Amino acid sequence: MSDSSVITSIQRKFLACFPLSAFNLPRKIELNDQVEIFKATVGDPRVLEYPIKREYQQKFVRKIVESLENSENEEVYELFYESLCNLLSQTTDNDHKTHYRHFPLGNGGNIDRLIIQESRSLISEGTTGLCSWQAALALGEWCVLHRDFLEGKKILELGSGVGLTGLTILSLCSPRKFIFSDCHPRVLTLLRSNVDCHSRKIDHPHEIIDLPWENIDEQLSNSLDLDLVIAADVIYDKSLFPSLINGLRTLMSSGNCVGVIAMTVRNQETVSEFFEQLNSGGFVYEETDTPEFSIFIRSDDTPVRIIKLSYRNKRS
Ligand SMILES: C[S@@+](CC[C@H](N)C(=O)[O-])C[C@H]1O[C@@H](n2cnc3c(N)ncnc32)[C@H](O)[C@@H]1O
Repeated sequence: MSDSSVITSIQRKFLACFPLSAFNLPRKIELNDQVEIFKATVGDPRVLEYPIKREYQQKFVRKIVESLENSENEEVYELFYESLCNLLSQTTDNDHKTHYRHFPLGNGGNIDRLIIQESRSLISEGTTGLCSWQAALALGEWCVLHRDFLEGKKILELGSGVGLTGLTILSLCSPRKFIFSDCHPRVLTLLRSNVDCHSRKIDHPHEIIDLPWENIDEQLSNSLDLDLVIAADVIYDKSLFPSLINGLRTLMSSGNCVGVIAMTVRNQETVSEFFEQLNSGGFVYEETDTPEFSIFIRSDDTPVRIIKLSYRNKRS
């Protein structure tokens, strides 16, 4: 094999907990390549320090071992067996409600890899905000592709969740300032911990605020004086639309502030309803490109749409 792109691809999928069914392992993997795969995945010191889901690691190693045993390989790297035994012998981590996922960013910035602490389940503690959703990845990709548009801007993110989009922007774009926000106490705790984990390497000013959309008023808007408001995966519950749209209107009513929103299209009717409310609420919006994923990996085929919006009737 000895093709570093194969090892890199296995590593990126493993670190992001990509579904194991999507791993296409080569039939023959030389021992030295097996060593490299081990070092890039379960044997990576940063994975040992910030572990990804133990059950996932177990299944990954089992898959590797079975695939190596059942194909043309003469031997299986012994540390895979050792690692499998270790993973199997560890006590169940039911009481550990979080795990980490790692997202390599390449060499474009100070941070070579985002390490994000997330909930082990998609919806927990009454919120969807404890893990990174596909729209967060898509918006991160869009922002990096359009980094000239973001450069020098003061940006507020609504409903930041665990912070993946904002940390991508702080790593690879050059905002004047980036403000993360959310309203759920547990989400804010995890968000703070994720931002703290990377802040030593972040050059751009940033802060985290507790901001329920219902509390956005003119005074706050004036004090923030934003250039750009962004949000990912906040279009999923129609009952949240009035507060979100009012908040956007208040923030975008003065100055040149515009918005960029990435939405996962799980239900077309929900998205259409949001567009109708934007239209009747005095916004203009245009659909923009949803970039191919080049930094992150798409975990499924659910479409993501990204819009740019502005408010028509600015305050003078
Ligand atoms: C589906 S999650 C998306 C999180 C993140 N942007 C992502 O895409 O991974 C929606 C987020 O919006 C936040 N949210 C929901 N309603 C809110 C409100 N009324 N005010 C502020 N944040 C809210 C939730 O706490 C949650 O973090």
